[in-house]
Amino acid sequence: MADLLAALVELAIPHEDIDEVLAIRLTQAQRAIVDDYVAIMARHMGLVQPTPPRFQPLPSAPRLFYVLVYAAALAQVKAYHRGRGVPESISRLTLADVGRNVAVHRQRTDVPGIDPPHWLQLHFCGTRYQIGRLQYEQTVQDGEPVLSIHIPTFCGPLSPAACDDSLRRAKAFFARHFPETPYQTAVCHSWLLDTQLRDYLPAQSNILRFQRRFTPSHSGRQNDESIQRFVVAGTPLHRKVIEHLEAGKHWQIGSGWLAI
Ligand SMILES: CC(C)(COP(=O)(O)OP(=O)(O)OC[C@H]1O[C@@H](n2cnc3c(N)ncnc32)[C@H](O)[C@@H]1OP(=O)(O)O)[C@@H](O)C(=O)NCCC(=O)NCCS
Repeated sequence: MADLLAALVELAIPHEDIDEVLAIRLTQAQRAIVDDYVAIMARHMGLVQPTPPRFQPLPSAPRLFYVLVYAAALAQVKAYHRGRGVPESISRLTLADVGRNVAVHRQRTDVPGIDPPHWLQLHFCGTRYQIGRLQYEQTVQDGEPVLSIHIPTFCGPLSPAACDDSLRRAKAFFARHFPETPYQTAVCHSWLLDTQLRDYLPAQSNILRFQRRFTPSHSGRQNDESIQRFVVAGTPLHRKVIEHLEAGKHWQIGSGWLAI
């Protein structure tokens, strides 16, 4: 790549990981995979359905291999954003999720990485955007176009004001830049919507206030892994998460919707 360093800084790769990425020497086969993956994202640019085939972990590749994949796809997604008139500030915030994922990986495991590698694909297909505190993915649910809300780490508290601001701006953003799809509903599928959290968090906590924005759409899906992945180990909330499991109970991915 012509200016890999500039791309890495733009993607918010943590400074302490940049030398490692610059030192990667790909084999011919790995270079072919990068080209193939960049081409897949180009083919799916702006395409809500079908979603692209999910990138898989490549055990023999360098641990920051996927940083190179996304850096190589930077120019094409920026061109798509420009074509849609997406403000540069939103484009940058959206694509900076690459570096955030590297940092989150270090927080979880003490080493940098990107896991799962497919998480950033939709950002680079131009169908997922970060607008203030929240991310919005263009998708289809039950035959209706909807925005699926994601909540990134390392973006400050999930305060009601930050969420109000994000939702207000998201409505205007999609009406302006994707006028062909009239989004009226946002959905969320997350451990944050597990109603059992009411037993452990104060009613005025950000998480429960966020939860109350949504009308539950169906009963939660049992999932003990997700909450353990997103709640930071060693914290008081993490201890409550574990106590719940030790009591023989399970956690869920809650689902809900709200009108935007
Ligand atoms: C979403 C998030 C920002 C909410 O944090 P918040 O705004 O502090 O939420 P609350 O105010 O409701 O937190 C209530 C308490 O739980 C703690 N808490 C909240 N989320 C926590 C987390 N992920 N890990 C550990 N503790 C957490 C808070 O520190 C607070 O503790 P305190 O009362 O001792 O101060 C936070 O959970 C987070 O960063 N999560 C990672 C991303 C994520 O889970 N995305 C959804 C994936 S499906």
